[in-house]
Amino acid sequence: MREWVRRERKEGRRIGLVPSMGALHEGHLTLALEASAACDRVIVSIFVNPTQFGPGEDFEAYPRTLASDAEKLAALKVVDVIFAPAVEEIYPMGTNVTWVTVDQMGDYLCGSTRPGHFRGVTTIVARLFAICEPDEAVFGLKDAQQFFILKRMTAEMGFGVVLRGVPTVREPDGLAMSSRNRYLTPEERAAAPLLNRVLSEARETLMRQGPVDVNTMLSKARQRLESEPRCRVDYVQLVDTATLQPLERVRSGDEVLMALAAFFGAARLIDNVIVTIP
Ligand code: PAF
Repeated sequence: MREWVRRERKEGRRIGLVPSMGALHEGHLTLALEASAACDRVIVSIFVNPTQFGPGEDFEAYPRTLASDAEKLAALKVVDVIFAPAVEEIYPMGTNVTWVTVDQMGDYLCGSTRPGHFRGVTTIVARLFAICEPDEAVFGLKDAQQFFILKRMTAEMGFGVVLRGVPTVREPDGLAMSSRNRYLTPEERAAAPLLNRVLSEARETLMRQGPVDVNTMLSKARQRLESEPRCRVDYVQLVDTATLQPLERVRSGDEVLMALAAFFGAARLIDNVIVTIP
């Protein structure tokens, strides 16, 4: 991988990386197209990273569909390399002793219920940056917390990689595309667009001129979700995008992230809105 990248860079080509865990859907393909619009060469990495899954999470069950992923990427005609290493290549010593951690920004949202998750993400992405030496890396904003943490890591570590965040791609009924949507039963799938509806209503509240009582807005959102019997709420929170710390009050000019996670049966789904307060 490194030899190929170095050859391409020598030729003056700009390298774009799309890190993924495979089970590709239209959202991922959009990331590859974005990378190709900004760069001369595109690498898509496919690696189900064990260190970002906690005990009892879906590491074993996570879909591994390399052959059909490769077909989808070939049809797109913009991807030069699929980098799909084995776990032993990435973690040759078994358990890592070297970790990249970003303090505080992982304390809330998914960090509060998935301890160790972001440490796994920052470590693997740092490792992919070291191997692929990209000029740019493209991520989906469905994982907004991940994106803001990686942006901070990249700036503070001086990796010299430009990070692009691409808006969430949705199904026609508003459900955010996710590799985990395939875990949903037909009934759960029919109920799941509620996540997006609740967030859209919150966005309207936040965009309305005048003071917003954040806690009331969040408990209303939670109640709306809990009124659906198939939905089990993990969290509904509103944070500042720069610090990822909770906000009780919003002020004009603030950029805020309202994010939620909820279980529908076996599937833990996340979604969010990013709003600049008028
Ligand atoms: O967003 C994902 O698919 C993963 O968290 C990432 C960034 C590929 C790291 O494993």
